[in-house]
Amino acid sequence: MCGIVGYVGKRQAAPILVEGLSKLEYRGYDSAGVAIIDEAGNMNVSKCKGRLANLEGKLEQEPVQGLIGIGHTRWATHGEPSDRNSHPHTNEKETISVVHNGIIENYMHLREWLISKGYKFYSETDTEVIPNLVDYFYDGNLLDAVMKAVSKMEGSYALGVVSTYEPDKIVAVRKDSPLIVGVGAEENFIASDVPAILNQTRDVYYLNDKEFVVLTETGVEIYSAEGEKINKELHHVTWNADAAEKGGFEHFMIKEIHEQPKVIKDTMTSRIMPGKPVTLDDIKITKEQIENIDKVYIVACGTAYHAGIVGKYVIERLARIPVEVDIASEFRYRNPIINDRTLMIVVSQSGETADTLAALREARAQGARVIAVTNVVGSSVSREADDVLYTWAGPEIAVASTKAYTTQLITMYMIGLFFAQNRNTLTTEEIESIKNDMLTLPEKVEETLNHKEVLQKFAANTYMHKDMFFLGRGLDYAVAMEGSLKLKEISYIHSEAYAGGELKHGTIALIEPGTIVVALATQKSLYEKMVSNIKEVTTRGAKVLGLAVEGNTDVEKAVESAIYIPEVQEVLLPVLSVVPLQLLAYYMAIQKGCDVDKPRNLAKSVTVE
Ligand code: M6R
Repeated sequence: MCGIVGYVGKRQAAPILVEGLSKLEYRGYDSAGVAIIDEAGNMNVSKCKGRLANLEGKLEQEPVQGLIGIGHTRWATHGEPSDRNSHPHTNEKETISVVHNGIIENYMHLREWLISKGYKFYSETDTEVIPNLVDYFYDGNLLDAVMKAVSKMEGSYALGVVSTYEPDKIVAVRKDSPLIVGVGAEENFIASDVPAILNQTRDVYYLNDKEFVVLTETGVEIYSAEGEKINKELHHVTWNADAAEKGGFEHFMIKEIHEQPKVIKDTMTSRIMPGKPVTLDDIKITKEQIENIDKVYIVACGTAYHAGIVGKYVIERLARIPVEVDIASEFRYRNPIINDRTLMIVVSQSGETADTLAALREARAQGARVIAVTNVVGSSVSREADDVLYTWAGPEIAVASTKAYTTQLITMYMIGLFFAQNRNTLTTEEIESIKNDMLTLPEKVEETLNHKEVLQKFAANTYMHKDMFFLGRGLDYAVAMEGSLKLKEISYIHSEAYAGGELKHGTIALIEPGTIVVALATQKSLYEKMVSNIKEVTTRGAKVLGLAVEGNTDVEKAVESAIYIPEVQEVLLPVLSVVPLQLLAYYMAIQKGCDVDKPRNLAKSVTVE
């Protein structure tokens, strides 16, 4: 998730681009850069690693003049954060510059093809193929060249392209990555998101996938992929700047909850494909090493630890390898048994959590192989692990983790399937069936997001309670733990998650008339048992919000309110069942007037012990 901007008009482009990028830093800040064409028609690129402030310092020392340009703030995907990998990227002659948000999946193939045609590459990025492709196809018409380049590209992209051959225009296009066009008086803009241009104009076009746009000082022309001109409705944005940064949502947390369908899809892209083996891009672990693993430790903190608990169920079930899940701060001090047949999987959104990093170092020192599951390219865990598997969730701003958790679950499924493939613990048909169901998850998460009303109502009736309980069995218990953590951290309501079968061993003593219970009963194999547990608490006066799979409406007989999630095979249900719990925590916190995105006493990344 990077941010792109573009300007063409009568004013100096640099300050406008920098101001726009400052509003997009929430999308990434590994590096920033601009490409500006000066009035003599020369391309000037200025870019550097680190936050936008570094670029600003550079531009102060070496100003770049010009009335047309593009800019980028980077969230690294392909290639570590560095000056070399920063955008904009250009062709060797520096006649074409490109900013890109997204991932070009077939870039290796395109790169090799371009090298065979004599092109040279200087970065590790997927993006660098784009200016070279445009160069290859340029034959006197920039729009035409971009169209031809795009027709060769697979993956997601929002692109801004400028060229010294046609120094009066920006050509832009999008597919599966956001892009808007801002329309001003004798000046026009492109941006990944509204906040970037809100100080310049409030009139915008929202581009659809595969729509191309040509911007000049005097006009904006939009074309279909077939080259036909399109007339689009111009929207007037009425949001204030703060709302615009959150995409019209009230908080980053709710925005990020709604981003889940997209980021789940992104995390599976080019890894889970029908009819093809699971492909884990950069993982170097060999089949022999996978066959030799006799023990897996999943080590993490907080929400990432909860994803690890689901990971245990998944890897044991699919790949039949024993898995232990540990809280990182405990693992590092308990002298665990590790040898060269041990695999450790560390899970960390930030990749910087001190305890997780220390556990990783401990395991490696004792001879274990380590796979890092992280969201941040170039983070400490990604650098120190033997293998890295990225969750493509994009920057998570809200302290409460939501989209990072669901993409971590997806990663657990991918590892489970990859190991099953290598250890022959599942048939090809079984693997295919799980993959096919995984591919339906983005759409089913979208459906699950439609249950807001029941949850809002439940929150309005219960937010004043001081305690709540979450119950579940099997995978539902793992999700109950995450639901309980979400509620605690943002609404400050005390809550506990219990395994349904454990109730009668003590906890049921806490149930009294009016106690609030959220009961998850999504697992088919445990459904009847869970319904019995629900009855045990309702008999004692508890008010229960039940969560079940569509069709299991008999749960309504036992509960106060019920929420249904779409059907998918049992092992994948946590991706859906956590969504109502995230929403519930959010609405509870809203009812209580809490600072949802920045809960008290918490930091997004815990880099101290
Ligand atoms: O960056 P990490 O995934 O390593 O962070 C781990 C925990 O600190 C984090 O998941 C924390 O529990 C979240 N605030 C939960 O929403």
